[in-house]
Amino acid sequence: MSQYRAVKGTRDIFPGEISSWNHIEKVIHRVAGLYGFHEIRTPVFEYTELFQRSIGATTDIVGKEMFTFRPEEKGRSITLRPEMTAGVMRAFIQGNLAATSPVHKLYYIAELFRKERPQAGRQRQFSQFGAELIGVSSPEAVAEVIGMMMQVFADLGVTGLRLRMNSLGDVKDRMHYIKALREYLEPLSALLDEHSRERLDKNPLRILDSKNPEIQAIIADAPRLHDFLGASAIDDFEKVLHYLDEKDLSYVIDPLLVRGLDYYCHTAFEVTSSELGAQDAIGGGGQYDGLAKQLGCKSDIPAVGFAVGLERLLITMEKQGLLAHVTSERPQVYVVLQSHELVAHAVGICDALRKSGIRSIMDLAGRSMKAQMREANKMSAAYALFVGQDEIQNQVFGLKNLVTSEQDFLSIQQIIERLEPFSESSQKTSDE
Ligand code: HAM
Repeated sequence: MSQYRAVKGTRDIFPGEISSWNHIEKVIHRVAGLYGFHEIRTPVFEYTELFQRSIGATTDIVGKEMFTFRPEEKGRSITLRPEMTAGVMRAFIQGNLAATSPVHKLYYIAELFRKERPQAGRQRQFSQFGAELIGVSSPEAVAEVIGMMMQVFADLGVTGLRLRMNSLGDVKDRMHYIKALREYLEPLSALLDEHSRERLDKNPLRILDSKNPEIQAIIADAPRLHDFLGASAIDDFEKVLHYLDEKDLSYVIDPLLVRGLDYYCHTAFEVTSSELGAQDAIGGGGQYDGLAKQLGCKSDIPAVGFAVGLERLLITMEKQGLLAHVTSERPQVYVVLQSHELVAHAVGICDALRKSGIRSIMDLAGRSMKAQMREANKMSAAYALFVGQDEIQNQVFGLKNLVTSEQDFLSIQQIIERLEPFSESSQKTSDE
C-alpha cells in the first residue's frame, strides 16, 4: 500500500457511493426550487475576522476548530470556512443584494472544514446543504425554512427524526439570562467538569447542552431561559409552533437547546436522528437578525437559516435502507469486440451512438469476448452489440438484450433509432 493516505478526518467518495450523493443533491435542488430558493456559491476560504466576528470568539468553532493560515508573511489571516452562514451574509452585503429585493432566499451544498476530533459522523472536511432566508425572519419565514428542511428529509424517505425547538429571545433577554445562569452556576463551580468550568467563564449558555449526566442534574434546577423572554419573543415563538402544526410537522420544545454559534436569536432548532450515535445532530439552524449589522451593515437585516450535515444524512439513510435502490446510470450498450484488431470500428460505432445520446461502453483493455460479456453484465448494460469481421463486412450487427437474451440483427442507424427514444438526451427533449 502506498505511503500516501488521505488526511485524518477526510475521506474519498468512490464511484460506488456517488450515486447516493447525486440522489440526495437532486432532491435538495428540487425541493429548494419548490420553495423558491436560489443557489449561491461562495469561496472556500474567507478572512479569519469574518468568522471570529459572526460565529463568536468564545465558541468552540472559533476557539479551537478553525483551519487558519497566513498565505503571505505579513498578509491577513485566512480561514477555511467552518460553516456557510457568515460567508453567505458577507456575500449578500458585498453584492448589495438588498438593493434588488427585500427578501432573498439562498441555498447551498458546500464543503466545510473544522478541526474536530474525527469519529463516526464527525469529519474535518464535511458537507452541508443549507438555506438562508435573508431580509425577513417573521414566524412565517422561520416556518418556511424549517418546512423546506423537513421536506427534503421526507422526500428522501428519512424517518425517526426529532425536531427540537427553542426560543433564545433577543440579545437583551439573553444577556439577562446569562447573568442569572452565571449567578446560579458560580457557587456550584466545584461540581462542574473541566469543560463546563471553562464555559462558565466564556460561554455559559453552552453548559446547558452538556451531555454529562452530572451536569445535566445541576442544570435541571437552573433558571429557565423561557422565563427571561419578552412578550414579543414568546408571541413569535408560539406563532412559529402554530405554523409547524399547520404543516403537520411534529416537534418537541427543548428549553435546553442552545446552538454552538453566537449569532442566533429568537427561534433556534435542531434535528436529531436516532440512527446516529454520539453525534446525533443531523441539522440545525435559527434566526440571526443581528448578524448583518455585526458585519458592518448600516441597517438591521433579519435572517433565518439552517444547515444539514450530508454525511450524517447519508449514515441515517444507509441505516434505514434508503440507499439500496439508488444506482448510478447503467450503460445502454456495451460494444463487444470479437478481436481487438477491430477496435477502430468500435471507436467509430461508440462515437456514433454517443453522439445520438446513447450511453455506450467499449473495452479498452483488449479483453477476450467472454471477459467483455462478463463486464457488460457486471455493469448491468442493457444491450450487448457484437462487432466481428462478418458484421463489419455486412454492416449488420447483433444487438442482444441482456435481460431477455433476445437478439436482433440491425444496422447502426437502426440501432440508434431503436435506442434513442430511451436515451437521456431524447427524454429531455420530449419532456420539454
Ligand atoms: P451547525 O449546527 O454547526 O450549524 O452544523 C449543521 C450540521 O452540520 C450539524 O447538525 C451536522 O449535521 C453537520 N456537521 C457539523 N460539524 C460536522 C463535522 N465535523 N462533521 C460532520 N458533520 C458536521 C451551522 O453550521 C449553521 N451555519 C447552520 C445555520 C445556517 N444556521 C443558520 N443558517
